[in-house]
Amino acid sequence: MAGWLRKQDVNLSPNRQSKYIFGNWKMSQSFEAMRSFFADSTRQNVDPGLEMAIFPSFTHLGEARKLVGPQKVYAIGAQDCSDEKNGAFTGEVSAQSLKELGVCLCLVGHSERRQRANETPQSLSKKLAVLQECGILPVFCIGESRAERESGRVDEILSSQLEVLKTYRGQLILAYEPVWAIGTGLTASASQIQETHAYILKQLGGPWPLLYGGSVKLENAQEILGIEGVHGLLIGGASLKVNVFEKICGFALESLNR
Ligand code: 13P
Repeated sequence: MAGWLRKQDVNLSPNRQSKYIFGNWKMSQSFEAMRSFFADSTRQNVDPGLEMAIFPSFTHLGEARKLVGPQKVYAIGAQDCSDEKNGAFTGEVSAQSLKELGVCLCLVGHSERRQRANETPQSLSKKLAVLQECGILPVFCIGESRAERESGRVDEILSSQLEVLKTYRGQLILAYEPVWAIGTGLTASASQIQETHAYILKQLGGPWPLLYGGSVKLENAQEILGIEGVHGLLIGGASLKVNVFEKICGFALESLNR
């Protein structure tokens, strides 16, 4: 279904035929830079099969939704949410309040959150549930550390991270982001990505799309998009500049039309 991310009032139904180009801005984009990003965007239309989304920090979400404009070429996602529905949880942000801002996607279990916030499987499972209840689509992130890869434990680690999904019955997008490739300039090789994606997709079955993330840049995006089992990209640093990000979106469109 084309542009389903932007139709927030219909049932979200991600599929592996679309290409997903998501930009995780982490804590790296100022208000001014965000305004320039959208002002300089050259993408005017929703392209069938191409799903583009930006994940700004919490403080920027409301403004980002306004800057996207009525065409909603970009969907807006959050980088995290509270695992509680509401109540006395100082400093936390509920899925419901994200929904009220027009957010339609939310990262869950990004490795930077897993590390800094000591996220447990139980907390991740609660986040999936609150997001599902609000109609926000989770982007569930998994990935192994360098030591885990070097000791041959990739499959074991990914399987244990996927355990949380065994009891989840909603829609989902997955992102495989090897921790050692995030922000390091070290991208996983094409064969590592293909092998690992095949393993994850086999473990899960189902129609869920699987994105790759970790030092994706203009120079490697096209090759990664061409790998079997890669349904899109979750991009950090290279998503901050609109010309770079939209060139990568162009590669995704080309790969759809091939
Ligand atoms: P980089 O593309 O900067 O390595 O970040 C990847 C990432 O963590 C996206 O969520």
